[in-house]
Amino acid sequence: MSGEPISRRRALELIGLGTAGVATGAAGWATGLGAPPSDRLEPAAQGQRLAEPQVLASRDGLLDVRLVAASGVRLAGRDTAGWGFNGTSPGPTLRVRPGDLLRVRLVNHIDQPTNLHTHGLHVSPSGNSDNPFLTIERGGSFDYAIRIPARHPAGTFWYHPHHHGTVADQIFAGLVGALLVEGAGGEADLPVHGDRLLLVTDTTLDGAGRVASPTMMARMRGREGELVLVNGQYQPVITAAPGSVQRWRVINGCVSRVLALRLDGHRLTHVALDGAFLPAPVDRDQVVLAPGNRADLLVRPTGSGQYALISDPYDRGGLGMMDGGSSTGGPVTLATLATAGPATTSPSVPVTLSAPAVPQGPMAGQRRLTFAMGMGGMGMGGMGFTIDGRTFDPDRDDQSVALGTVEEWTVVNTSPMAHPFHLHVWPFHVLAGSAGMPPAGVVQNVVLVPARGWVRLRIRFSDFAGRSVFHCHILDHEDLGMMATVNVRG
Ligand code: C2O
Ligand code: CU
Ligand code: CU
Repeated sequence: MSGEPISRRRALELIGLGTAGVATGAAGWATGLGAPPSDRLEPAAQGQRLAEPQVLASRDGLLDVRLVAASGVRLAGRDTAGWGFNGTSPGPTLRVRPGDLLRVRLVNHIDQPTNLHTHGLHVSPSGNSDNPFLTIERGGSFDYAIRIPARHPAGTFWYHPHHHGTVADQIFAGLVGALLVEGAGGEADLPVHGDRLLLVTDTTLDGAGRVASPTMMARMRGREGELVLVNGQYQPVITAAPGSVQRWRVINGCVSRVLALRLDGHRLTHVALDGAFLPAPVDRDQVVLAPGNRADLLVRPTGSGQYALISDPYDRGGLGMMDGGSSTGGPVTLATLATAGPATTSPSVPVTLSAPAVPQGPMAGQRRLTFAMGMGGMGMGGMGFTIDGRTFDPDRDDQSVALGTVEEWTVVNTSPMAHPFHLHVWPFHVLAGSAGMPPAGVVQNVVLVPARGWVRLRIRFSDFAGRSVFHCHILDHEDLGMMATVNVRG
């Protein structure tokens, strides 16, 4: 790392813009990915019924699956060179119950190392459990064994690769899947007629169905794909009877895109965030999900017609200097709700839900972590994306915590761009934050820290000793170094 001051001109040269490049970069093509915009895959299927990935459910306390990561999946109704698990993107939906053992044989048939992370699960980070430090080489395989605690909350989680340096590439190519924990903690109280998965991803495919490579500039902003897909489909249709109650489990599986969800003609009843119930259902016009966040929404279709599920543009800031910002284009239609059939009478939605309580007890630590973007951290390649002034080193312990203690972490973002903070294994409550933060007191796994803003979290480091990571869930930033380790010592 070089700490030398650097001129703005030199900085622009380093990130591959030059002074002329700024104009074309901004006027040309929003995401800055590497092929001419004319050579783009045309979605074949629009308006098809929302399909769900294959479901693999546990039996008698065990789910034993084989996941083969390989090239060749259908996306937007076309055969593509995207990547998936067992031939599809998203891969199969894994359904487990508290107390189950989840065994996964991960087989790596892509042309680079990979591994697997169970995002949001409160499980051991060590050995062959949810261990982000593992490398499964090309052509190799690995047997994971992940024990779900008997008191694990029921909710919506997901899985994706976590091999540092290529996480964004692998997710952008399609390696994602849903992981649902069922049958505990208030689940039975939710009266619903339908339970649908909406795993949202974005990617950019050329006319031959190849995944586009981002420029360094796009990686620094956090790449946003031109195609926004739901369960790998382009603008699918979800049919439901008027008056019914639908549970939509929305997962933001995009590398960098923030989803600002809205449903034409309807309000969204938000019941769970990141796999945990809110204290009570909240009716909203818009639900914002950072990359990695999940929301369980109750939708009560009214009227008779077609209503678009939209993601509105969201300004997550830019790189500063002469950067026009990360926001790409206008509203994006994700899917359409089509109401049809005879009206059903709505059961009423419960007034309270079983939300996890804010951890109490003596504070064993008060930490302050600084997320920053600066020049010079990456050598000649571009900007440094750092936590406390350092880029990721898997062998260094950045934070040491005593098992069983409660801590408060203040995450400070000194940069002109929002960064979604994510901690593995241990969920946190958001206590407070700078202006523009959503209401506090809710448990999450990912929280968007506004540009030049901050957020204060309370975390109970319970149940599992071992080393894991926290990072920016704009996965390009994580790959560029914005990740650090935590060692929980038992
Ligand atoms: Cu969803 Cu460490 O990631
Ligand atoms: Cu995670
Ligand atoms: Cu970031």
